Amino acid sequence: MSGKQSKRDSFSSKFGVIAAAAGSAVGLGNIWKFPYITGVYGGGAFLFVYLGFILAIGLPIMLSELIIGRKSKRNAFGAFKKLAPKSVWKYIGILGVAAAFMILSFYGVIAGWSIEYIFMAVVDGFKDTSPGEISTTFTAFIESPVKPVAFQLLFMLLTGAIVIVGIRKGIEKYTKILMPLLVVIIIILDIKAISLKGSEAGLKFLFHPDFSKLTGEGILSALGHAFFSLSLGMGTLITYGSYIRNDNNLLNTAIQVTVADTIIAVLAGIAIFPAVFAFGIEPNSGPGLVFITLPNVFQQMPGGHIFSVLFFVLLTVAALTSAISILEVVVAYFTEELNMKRKWATVFATIFISFLGIICSLSMGVFKNHSFYNLNFFDLLDWVSANILLPLGGLLISLFMGWYFGRKKIRKELEKGGHIGSALLSIFMFLVRFIAPVAIAMVLLHGTGLLDLKWFMPAK
Ligand code: TRP
Repeated sequence: MSGKQSKRDSFSSKFGVIAAAAGSAVGLGNIWKFPYITGVYGGGAFLFVYLGFILAIGLPIMLSELIIGRKSKRNAFGAFKKLAPKSVWKYIGILGVAAAFMILSFYGVIAGWSIEYIFMAVVDGFKDTSPGEISTTFTAFIESPVKPVAFQLLFMLLTGAIVIVGIRKGIEKYTKILMPLLVVIIIILDIKAISLKGSEAGLKFLFHPDFSKLTGEGILSALGHAFFSLSLGMGTLITYGSYIRNDNNLLNTAIQVTVADTIIAVLAGIAIFPAVFAFGIEPNSGPGLVFITLPNVFQQMPGGHIFSVLFFVLLTVAALTSAISILEVVVAYFTEELNMKRKWATVFATIFISFLGIICSLSMGVFKNHSFYNLNFFDLLDWVSANILLPLGGLLISLFMGWYFGRKKIRKELEKGGHIGSALLSIFMFLVRFIAPVAIAMVLLHGTGLLDLKWFMPAK
């Protein structure tokens, strides 16, 4: 056993940890999903609730995952097995590995679209097309049986190629290059967006909260999205935490990653809404927002060609650094629990997930008429993972931290690489013992229809 321990890979630097963890957090969730759900659920009010969840629930659970990972130095399943031997807690890990399969299979499909759109942007494919044509092209593309599948496979191949090399030489090395690139691109796009005439309406939509637009459904989505965006609830950060050295200050790391993820989501909103409003397009256009609405905006905008290329490169880079973190959950589980070689674990996991991804992709077209509860396979995986599995995982992780692992061990783990004051520790304990579990449970019950969040809201 000890021989196996000493061979365990790790991150080599503080920046490497931040790049990898922020790389995981910042993804399609920030750039594709956050702007469109903010649009659908009414703008500023949704943002406000989302920020509340990030602070009171997301940050504490992120810190919990990092603690569990670094203390145990194991994969998502092995971590609980080691910290809570002979108990049922380890099944949290199984839930996580299952969620990883589900999330990455649909994630790869959207990332594949993004690669296709880089090519479209490069050849200036949006030029001189009407809004209707752009929308038809998108629908025809995602429903076709070959092209999206091919691009999804290409994306999965890239993901597997980075993961197969390992933590330091693969994940850390590439995220350290890709994350700064992402920041530069998003800042360029923001400057452009703000300088557009008529951009104020978009900024107002994003930042001015109108609480009358808030719904129970919106609150559920805000929580689900807080988990999704911060990569919480399925052991991604347990797995990454297990590669973090003892001299790292975990509290600072959790804060920096949370802040970075939130800032990038808001920056993505700033890049998108002003342009959408400036060109008189509806903000609530759903999943098509970045693939239909934005190309429309680009083709009306001076310099739109180059900005459209930049945007889809940004989207693909963000997706790639997240996808590797999801794949790593499965690969770490396979290598440590099933004793597979890293190489075979990666190949096997990539092939299996790609296969599920193909079904997701085909569920947009060929299998369109096969639905479960009115959702196609793709939407089903998205909905079940973001709104049920991740919050459930988060609920169990916070209970584990607050009630099983306990204050003393938490303090000890946090003080390995820093200092935590008693008052701060008490706040953390209160959040993971009470606030997070109760809030998540309420929102989950609302999702199942057993409780209606409207009962707690002021009457309209
Ligand atoms: N956070 C990523 C995004 O915003 C996606 C992601 C990576 C993820 N790892 C995860 C989501 C773990 C849930 C759980 O796109």
